Amino acid sequence: MTTTLSDEQIASFRERGYLQLDAITSAEEVERLRGIFDRLFAERAGWEKGRSFDLAGSDEADKTPVLPQILNPIEFAPELGDTQFRVNALAIARQLLGPTAEPWFEHAIFKPAHFGAPTPWHQDEAHRYDPGMDYEQLSIWMPLQPATVENGCMQYIPGSNRGPILEHRSLGGDPRKSALECIGDFDSAAAEPCPLPPGGAAIHHCRTLHGASANTTDIPRRAYILAFRSAPVPSANREMYPWLVGKTTPAAERAEAWRKRGGPLGRGARRIGEFTRSFAGKVKRRVRRILGN
Ligand code: NI
Repeated sequence: MTTTLSDEQIASFRERGYLQLDAITSAEEVERLRGIFDRLFAERAGWEKGRSFDLAGSDEADKTPVLPQILNPIEFAPELGDTQFRVNALAIARQLLGPTAEPWFEHAIFKPAHFGAPTPWHQDEAHRYDPGMDYEQLSIWMPLQPATVENGCMQYIPGSNRGPILEHRSLGGDPRKSALECIGDFDSAAAEPCPLPPGGAAIHHCRTLHGASANTTDIPRRAYILAFRSAPVPSANREMYPWLVGKTTPAAERAEAWRKRGGPLGRGARRIGEFTRSFAGKVKRRVRRILGN
């Protein structure tokens, strides 16, 4: 199954900033992905590396997350590399961003049943930590069960992709919260919800204002997002956004601590150290037994 956008769809994306597709992959693949997602979120995969975190809550180990997210889940489930979703998404990204479009990052979001928090209104471009670089970016958002207004489907402000980056701040003004919220001037009453069947897709430009409601239903709302960008070019006009200056999240601190401990190499070295110590302990105990003390 391959997906190609029509000229009409491409024109609509440029005008309105988003597109809605009924299917970007098969029902079988969605079911397989749901199993992988449920395992990754149950394990909180990537917690110690700061890859797994609570987007909207306090993000502490002993607190139940209200909007858990895993950045680059493919690191923890390599089988995610082999999907029709990925193939179709790249083809669509190249239609919309041009032939230089490349996969950039991906994330998995789990909005828990009954208490999953709303996703605040934001523009993805407001999250960029790379001043001095310019590129176009889009995200392809696929739900792994029906996405409805009641469980937190995407909602978009049409045409906001053609406007400027509006002012943002950390959610609730708390720089320890990972999520950003737009506090600029826009009309949230103009929002258009984008309900989808499982395996459908909502595609949005990095400037398109978007958000989602809380999950008030009995089923968790899982979404798999692939982000793409055009070839980056240096740009003197691109400065660091003021709302990112001094932002320190618990996830960033965990990532930093992980790097300081040596990352995956450090973990390997620690394991070898533990093994050597336990082996040495066993030898010592055996020698003592043999010697009778
Ligand atoms: Ni977003």
